Amino acid sequence: MIRVGVNGYGTIGRRVADAVRKQKDMELVGVTAAHPHYKYSVASGKGIPLYALDMKSLEAFNKEGYALRGTLNDLLQRVDVVVDGAPEDSGAANRAVYSQAGVKAVFQGGEEHELTGTSFVAQCNFEEASGKRSVRVVSCNTTGLCRTIHAVDRGPGVSRARAVLARRATDPDDVKRGPIDAVVLDPTTVPSHHGPDVQTVLRGMEIVTMAFKVPTTHMHLHSLILSLKAPATKEAVVSALQKAPRVTLVDGKAGFKSTANVMDWARERGRDRNDVYEATVWRDSVTVVDGEAYMFLGVHQEAIVVPENIDAIRALAGGYTREESMKATDESLGITHV
Ligand SMILES: NC(=O)c1ccc[n+]([C@@H]2O[C@H](COP(=O)([O-])OP(=O)(O)OC[C@H]3O[C@@H](n4cnc5c(N)ncnc54)[C@H](OP(=O)(O)O)[C@@H]3O)[C@@H](O)[C@H]2O)c1
Repeated sequence: MIRVGVNGYGTIGRRVADAVRKQKDMELVGVTAAHPHYKYSVASGKGIPLYALDMKSLEAFNKEGYALRGTLNDLLQRVDVVVDGAPEDSGAANRAVYSQAGVKAVFQGGEEHELTGTSFVAQCNFEEASGKRSVRVVSCNTTGLCRTIHAVDRGPGVSRARAVLARRATDPDDVKRGPIDAVVLDPTTVPSHHGPDVQTVLRGMEIVTMAFKVPTTHMHLHSLILSLKAPATKEAVVSALQKAPRVTLVDGKAGFKSTANVMDWARERGRDRNDVYEATVWRDSVTVVDGEAYMFLGVHQEAIVVPENIDAIRALAGGYTREESMKATDESLGITHV
């Protein structure tokens, strides 16, 4: 069993913790808690052991009557791998703590590539992380772009990628951020950071991205244009996408008219928290004009990186092939390859 701890129990940490509990080869030793909140009572009710982030948190939780198992330092003594779900840019400070405890670490996309030197999307570069001390699972947008571009690259081939990202304003439980009535250029300059981030995984891919935020919590939506290396039909591009794991094709005529419908599909399927782990491509949007493939790509920001975190844990632990790990992860999360 790989003993796993989760440090930072927010949007990503909560999901990764539940996903770890579904793996036959992993044990969730515990999660850290920073500030008293109902999510920790729920976690406790599920039998998830809680550890305070530090002594100040321990005191605050003790006052509220929680029974905590110790602090982060105690948790680190009991695990092989820690998944860092802390707010972005905490990575450098946390990395020092994990290294001192001799624990391997999975970081998230809010950190810089340089933090670990290995940025990870399972189906693209699982082997690069194999046996390493730490790895960074790239952001939700980068994960969606990498899976989709890699899929088409393995079919007709991709010589160049261009993407315009309509980004969700914030996550559903976040009442502090917006916009609620504007489209915000994010950034106002071109390119956005997403293209260079894709290149940390798909080395040498020629890609330019631009991004803006829209008032929704339901997923990001990318307009993706791929220049094809070889002449190809729409059917060939669709077939390449169909063959790729963790990419799902949806159709407007089946009712998928919006990102809200994709979330509703996950709800109807009984997915935990309505999570959509797959990069979602609208089949009817796939169009080839003058050697360029156009498509709409949906990314559920809260969920798409969850399977990558599970595979990253196995990659660091060592002893698994990409196929073994992805199969176990997908079966546990109900990700079917159609
Ligand atoms: N949200 C997304 O859509 C998304 C998608 C992909 C990747 N990511 C990346 O995932 C990472 C986490 O993002 P998130 O959205 O999950 O954040 P989040 O919801 O704000 O959760 C952060 C968690 O970290 C805890 N925390 C606060 N200070 C901490 C510290 N110093 N050390 C450890 N934990 C601490 C917080 O605890 P309390 O709640 O108790 O204060 C909270 O549970 C970031 O790198 C982000 O860029 C986010």
